[in-house]
Amino acid sequence: MDKFLINGPQKVAGKVSISGAKNAVLPIMASTIIQPAEYTIRNVPILRDTLTMIKMLELSGAIVDFKSNILRVDTRECSNYVAPYELVKTMRASFYMLGPFLSRFGKAVVSLPGGCAWGPRPVDYHIKAFEKMGATINLDGGNINAQGPLIGSEINFEQVSVGATGNVVMGAVKAKGETIILNPSLEPEIEDLCNFLKAMGAKISGLGTKQLIINGVSKMKSKVDYTIIPDRIEAGTFMMAAAISGGELELNGVNPSHLSIIINKLEESGTIIDYIDNSTLKVVSTGKIHPVDMVTAPYPGFPTDLQAQWMALMSLSDGVCTIIDEIYKDRFTHISELIRLGAKIKLNDNIATVYGVSRLTAAPVMSTDIRASASLIIACLSATGISEISRIYHIDRGYEKIEEKLNSLNIKIERIAK
Ligand code: UD1
Repeated sequence: MDKFLINGPQKVAGKVSISGAKNAVLPIMASTIIQPAEYTIRNVPILRDTLTMIKMLELSGAIVDFKSNILRVDTRECSNYVAPYELVKTMRASFYMLGPFLSRFGKAVVSLPGGCAWGPRPVDYHIKAFEKMGATINLDGGNINAQGPLIGSEINFEQVSVGATGNVVMGAVKAKGETIILNPSLEPEIEDLCNFLKAMGAKISGLGTKQLIINGVSKMKSKVDYTIIPDRIEAGTFMMAAAISGGELELNGVNPSHLSIIINKLEESGTIIDYIDNSTLKVVSTGKIHPVDMVTAPYPGFPTDLQAQWMALMSLSDGVCTIIDEIYKDRFTHISELIRLGAKIKLNDNIATVYGVSRLTAAPVMSTDIRASASLIIACLSATGISEISRIYHIDRGYEKIEEKLNSLNIKIERIAK
């Protein structure tokens, strides 16, 4: 298993281009199954997860070509509607196949995802919603066997769910009649999925509001060309890397409006953020990190996917703050690793109290998931000495060319292939 070596402290300096959003491209790739057609999808990050989703599409019978961040998918001959355990267990986003399979074939066999590193991640909203839309669903041998057809219905999510909103929208675009989703996810990645579906010919209104309306269509386009939005989580991670390391960074190819809460929190903590133009931001550290409390929440709140990175930054603040994860209450496996670097953090239920320390010191640490790995990288930038981060296959799932990008920012980070 590969490892990273980082000799800290080091300062981030230079310009970085942000890749396409992982959490947008995965459901968008799944949705190519809905309509037999030829798709060109641009700004697709080269990640382990996008490669896994390509395998999923190929398994269904799609012809896929992926070069220079452009993905071409031909789904005209697809006939298989099974998402097997081997793929779902390595990437939960394979569960996004449920809606598209039901939409295209009127049936689906999708392995039930198990828990994940930070605890249970239920899928009951997805199942209840499809049952309300007329599907018959049985659990057999760890698989969900779903039988359509789907019909338009009113779905009211008790709590905002990115995954369930995406799945239901994909199931609804060709369902007979009108589907109304109350309390949908407002995440930019779901908006991007809806815009892609609209480019395919879907009828969706109410984007960005608390009521999403999908009117089922019977005809969709035979060719679609679409560009994925920038990855706000990758952007936020680099911004925090600049802030923690006392550096200066220009981020190119971002959507600043998707980053509002992150910009506000970083400014509150003492970092300067300049808007250069509508796709460029400059982040300048003042050398100071003030403690800023944070609670994760659905968009436009602070994303759970940046909670671990924020904790790394707050570890070096000049005071005490609390970090609460309200989305995934057990998502704290990074705490024990940050403590190995000298951070002072106490966890009580889903509330972490971070007592800022004046310095971190290098240590061998272990990645436990994609975002925890990112938090360790940024913490190790500021830790004195040589840190070794193991199990970095997690980071390869979600960050495109991470060490190349860091190298171009004057950071010496070495991958040791084992
Ligand atoms: C969540 C995050 C998403 C992040 C992803 C991976 C939110 C709203 N979602 O998405 O931004 O990229 O983790 O880190 O911030 N729930 C149920 N039953 C369900 C589905 C969800 O109870 O069927 C609950 C979950 O336990 C969770 C909340 O709803 O507490 C949000 O879940 P959801 O958005 O669906 O999770 P992901 O799609 O994994």
